Amino acid sequence: MKIEPAAALRGHIAVPGDKSISHRAVLLGAIGEGETTVRGFGRSGDTEATISTVRGLGVTVHEDDVDALRIEGAGLRGLREPEVPLDCGNSGTTMRLLPGLLAGQQGHFELTGDESLRRRPIDRIAEPLAQMGARLKSEDGKPPLVVEGGELRGIRYEPPVASAQVKSCVLLAGLFAAGRTTVVEPLPTRDHTELMLEAAGVKVTRQQRRVSVGPVEALRLGEVVVPGDFSAAAPFVVAATLLPGSELTIHDVGLNPRRTGLLEVLARMGARITLFHRHRNGGEPVGDLEVRSAELTATAVTASEVPLLVDELPLFALAAACARGESTVWGAEELRVKETDRIETVTNSLRALGVRVTPRDDGFWVRGVPARPRGGRMASHGDHRIAMLGAVAGLVSRRGVDLQDAEAVAVSFPGFFELLDSVTQR
Ligand code: S3P
Repeated sequence: MKIEPAAALRGHIAVPGDKSISHRAVLLGAIGEGETTVRGFGRSGDTEATISTVRGLGVTVHEDDVDALRIEGAGLRGLREPEVPLDCGNSGTTMRLLPGLLAGQQGHFELTGDESLRRRPIDRIAEPLAQMGARLKSEDGKPPLVVEGGELRGIRYEPPVASAQVKSCVLLAGLFAAGRTTVVEPLPTRDHTELMLEAAGVKVTRQQRRVSVGPVEALRLGEVVVPGDFSAAAPFVVAATLLPGSELTIHDVGLNPRRTGLLEVLARMGARITLFHRHRNGGEPVGDLEVRSAELTATAVTASEVPLLVDELPLFALAAACARGESTVWGAEELRVKETDRIETVTNSLRALGVRVTPRDDGFWVRGVPARPRGGRMASHGDHRIAMLGAVAGLVSRRGVDLQDAEAVAVSFPGFFELLDSVTQR
């Protein structure tokens, strides 16, 4: 796909529902009591994988509309052993959260995924689940993963990496365990699981980095209204910031502070982003974002900020490329185990477009120039966030970007290119 340079982004848009929250709504709805209604469901390849896995476990999911679901809860221990392995596709969140629920069920469950997912580490969840008493088997720490559930005991777990997926998995298993289950994170990560558990009536005890739950009898979610996905808004935020004369409003975006690290980072670089109509939905902060173009200066992203913008670091690299001065990212080694090794894919693709960027073990270093990058050819390598990076890079470049495997976007944001087109001024 050829992405031509743009003059500006102007107009009003809404982005699809938050992917992280959509996965959690389906998973908690599946073990809930009665019916859970999901509005604003973020439909994508990844969230459809979660629907299909819970169906494989005997749960009925009605798809009333593209973004409206009703899930008939099977009850806390009501998931049934499937006849075929559960296919998580490209979705790391499905692969890492679902085993937390399966550890508390009777039966033998096998989870697999596509080639990229089968290369990503699963031992990070297998280890704490085994400590809780589940029996698990993987292929050298990678999927396929077999989970045999049973009696669980609560643990206190300090994950070696800051990962919301790991924290969520352990907390979900904690709902089935005798005694309390506590996770102490190295750094605060997104807390959608905690907020949704609270909305479902679970008592969650929380401090900054520590969260615990006890065993529950039942969960009842009722209705979940999913806000727009901040990570889906992020490419528009960066493009509108970089293209002079832009003025773009993105409505009803999730503004959970553990997701919006990109806004803090862009603000100190000089971006002009205003938040308004702020309110809460099921504990999740929501609002509108108004973005105007701005000239940026370089900044350093530190390790403690990384979890707050982990999925937006590819876009940060592009913003840094167009900012005056040298920017760095530290403490982001987790990027190496995403859908691709994003330290490699980000730096290789941006270099091919004329950006001066150098990989580090735990991040990258960017020599920014306040001008449009040249442009050229790059591939997404099947990684949706790299495909979105390529699209924004094309708009802000001088010659445009020839983007290979652009369709990888569909695992998180079908309709992305059409929406981008609708606000692009050439
Ligand atoms: C997610 C957590 C993050 C993020 C992923 C979604 C979640 O992964 O990169 O896209 O929904 O919990 P880690 O928790 O492994 O960092």
